[in-house]
Amino acid sequence: MRTPFTELAGVEHPLVGFNRSPAVVAEVSRAGALGVLAATAYTPEELDAQLTWIEEQVGAQPYGVDLLIPAKLAGGDRNDLVASLRAQIPGEHIRFVEQLMAKYGIPERNGREYTPAVNADPGIVSELLDVAFSHRISLIASALGTPPAYLVERAKAAGVTVAALVGKRAHAERQLDAGVDLLIAQGTEAGGHTGTIATMILTPEIVDIAGDVPVLAAGGIASGRQMAAALALGAAGVWCGSVWLSSEEDIAPAAVKQKFLAATSSDTLRSATRTGKPARQLRSAWHDEWDEPGAPAPLPMPLQSLLVQPAWDRIDAAAESGHVRALELESFYVGQVVGSFGRLRPAAEITRDLVDACRTRLVELGGLAEGS
Ligand SMILES: Cc1cc2nc3c(=O)[nH]c(=O)nc-3n(C[C@H](O)[C@H](O)[C@H](O)COP(=O)(O)O)c2cc1C
Repeated sequence: MRTPFTELAGVEHPLVGFNRSPAVVAEVSRAGALGVLAATAYTPEELDAQLTWIEEQVGAQPYGVDLLIPAKLAGGDRNDLVASLRAQIPGEHIRFVEQLMAKYGIPERNGREYTPAVNADPGIVSELLDVAFSHRISLIASALGTPPAYLVERAKAAGVTVAALVGKRAHAERQLDAGVDLLIAQGTEAGGHTGTIATMILTPEIVDIAGDVPVLAAGGIASGRQMAAALALGAAGVWCGSVWLSSEEDIAPAAVKQKFLAATSSDTLRSATRTGKPARQLRSAWHDEWDEPGAPAPLPMPLQSLLVQPAWDRIDAAAESGHVRALELESFYVGQVVGSFGRLRPAAEITRDLVDACRTRLVELGGLAEGS
């Protein structure tokens, strides 16, 4: 299957595998698609080690990274920044989270120093970009917002493709003006931060204004039939996130993966209670608690992550050791395709199945058009 995307990315299959686990990224690239590492939660040292490891695994095959990139890379002392952000968290919110942990009996994690999300810190993003560009990445994606000029210029000089996720037409217009090489039309079905327009509606709308810039469809794609449907909408390929959470190599806690395997397509919701912006995730008792009368409204990004991340650290650890009430709260980002997860499979097998089933479906549809 040759498309403008396979030409641009130098890959065999019009498929991107987005995941935070280096082993998933490596397996997807080795299978002839493009693995993209979600790098937002890593320190520069971790990212450097992971990209080195991925390169050892994939040989000459291309791969990419995805970062949350702020408009300005202002410097400044990290401790001062985190302290000033922490000071903005209202006592009401701190008490609510403490009471929630107490209500569910979630143990403290003694001696554990919590490191705040690096995406709150432009200084760290600057270091992450230096690490990414010191490796032979072939694509860099900007998760939220328009890629700033400093990134576009640096990527173009290095021959690296700049990609950006869009959830509506106005986003795409801004990204095209900024000079991106690839757009990802991400529908509301998707896991993670997402808008309100469905992939079926959004993809052709973005394709129609993108001109020569290839568009990938994202959100709700976890099978060959869904991949074929995306190509039918005019996409040059697909960008899949959730499906890799059903891979053996994915690093999500086992308790999370078990909840995913048991979930139906009705079991996700968009909620701002983890990051401050609406993100699709598995519904759990956590969300019901934030919906209760008297619960505070989520804080804006990045304050909400700063508030709740230590609690999630505790919930994940307790759930992993079988704590029943922690399992009620346990959740993670995932899209509506979670309802189609049957069992955990190797990432390479998922890649092959998606591509093979897509090809089969396209041939069948060709036959349909010819009336056979
Ligand atoms: C667990 C998870 C985390 C995600 N985190 C990010 C992120 O950090 N940056 C980003 O650009 N997209 C993120 N996304 C969205 C994916 O890039 C992708 O657009 C989406 O998963 C596609 O829809 P699907 O989940 O139906 O496959 C995330 C998705 C999931 C499932």
